[in-house]
Amino acid sequence: MATVAPGELAGKHLVLGLTGGIACYKIAELTRLLTKAGATVQVVMTDAATQFITPVTMQALSGRPVYTSQWDARIANNMPHIDLSREADAIVIAPASTDFLARLAHGMADDLLSTLCIARDCPLLVVPAMNRQMWQNPATQRNVAQLRADGVEVLGPDSGPQACGEVGDGRMLEPEATYEAIASFFHPKLLAGRRLLLTAGPTFEPLDPVRGITNRSSGKMGFSLARAAQQAGAEVHLIAGPVALDTPWGVYREDVQTAQQMHDAVMRAVADCDVFIGVAAVADWRVDHASPQKIKKTADKPMPTFTFVENPDILAAVAKLAHPPFCVGFAAESGDLELHGEEKRVRKNVPLLIGNLGPLTFGLDDNEVVLFEASGATKLPRADKRALAGTLIAEIAKRLPDTSLIR
Ligand code: CTP
Repeated sequence: MATVAPGELAGKHLVLGLTGGIACYKIAELTRLLTKAGATVQVVMTDAATQFITPVTMQALSGRPVYTSQWDARIANNMPHIDLSREADAIVIAPASTDFLARLAHGMADDLLSTLCIARDCPLLVVPAMNRQMWQNPATQRNVAQLRADGVEVLGPDSGPQACGEVGDGRMLEPEATYEAIASFFHPKLLAGRRLLLTAGPTFEPLDPVRGITNRSSGKMGFSLARAAQQAGAEVHLIAGPVALDTPWGVYREDVQTAQQMHDAVMRAVADCDVFIGVAAVADWRVDHASPQKIKKTADKPMPTFTFVENPDILAAVAKLAHPPFCVGFAAESGDLELHGEEKRVRKNVPLLIGNLGPLTFGLDDNEVVLFEASGATKLPRADKRALAGTLIAEIAKRLPDTSLIR
């Protein structure tokens, strides 16, 4: 899972409510991720939650006193159920136990956390955590359906091995995934209803079964864009070359190796999409006939020579379709970006091409880019790749023709 974008939740105030369950241990890490992203976190715990993790731990991690009782004398007017959520941008219940979901669904208000929820004036997010049979129980499913109908955001649950030793649906999302879902919740849905296809990373063109030609693309920019598009509400299909990166939360990922495989995967998926972004550093050439056996170094044989053939140009092929999606290209140049950027945009026949400014930024965390389009070039300030990805997605969203809303 990707790391937190610094400042992503700056200015956000969250009430984080813990209810009883073994998944409470995950909330220590979640709190750290939320505060690292700039959010202030006010922890409220039910009695049962304090059996699993102590208020002292949660106070140390959140940097604020923890509240567990509606009779807490620290609140001057003695109304913690009102005061604690007054400034909140959202209440997040994690883990949300079977019992707490039931109490929420029925509007109960018999402890501080449930009272806070019913007296709130902000969104409510719940992150269920329970044994698979408790999750599947018709009563739980009824309660969750009711909560959804009431506008409560339900994050997860995940599937997999459970603390009880059983395997199935019900376990809480991992802290990183919970963080991603919360961060995504706060993003404006500029791409709601849109389907976005993108390529990322390098390609690998084999010479023989153990060797090949590749390049230094890390995939970070493409993965950051996929994440930002998901956060903006798009349905995202990411086609990735060989990279060492985790799939962004909520993104559908397909792995390929060669340019030809990437081309074929794109062509299979493109009919369904509104936007195509070619971020991958696709190899321009491949070896005509890769050796099926490892090429051996033999003293009496000459050095191997290779004949190259051209790979398909994926971006140009998509742009040439009868009904192309809105196409965005990327250009990594080692010099003369101003010259090559616009020339490349016109050659590939795409409305927008994003050029990396200055030295090549493969593998680095930040980037500085120029947008090339028919109306001229616009330079964006240098930024962390994850923050820049958000800006680029907003720029792309602004340029989408209305006709691509429904294709
Ligand atoms: N691209 C592609 N398929 C290729 C080559 C490039 O889809 N076979 C896409 C890249 O994903 C990127 C854009 O085209 O969006 C520009 O890639 P780049 O490598 O900069 O351009 P090339 O056309 O390969 O030109 P050159 O290498 O000569 O600069």
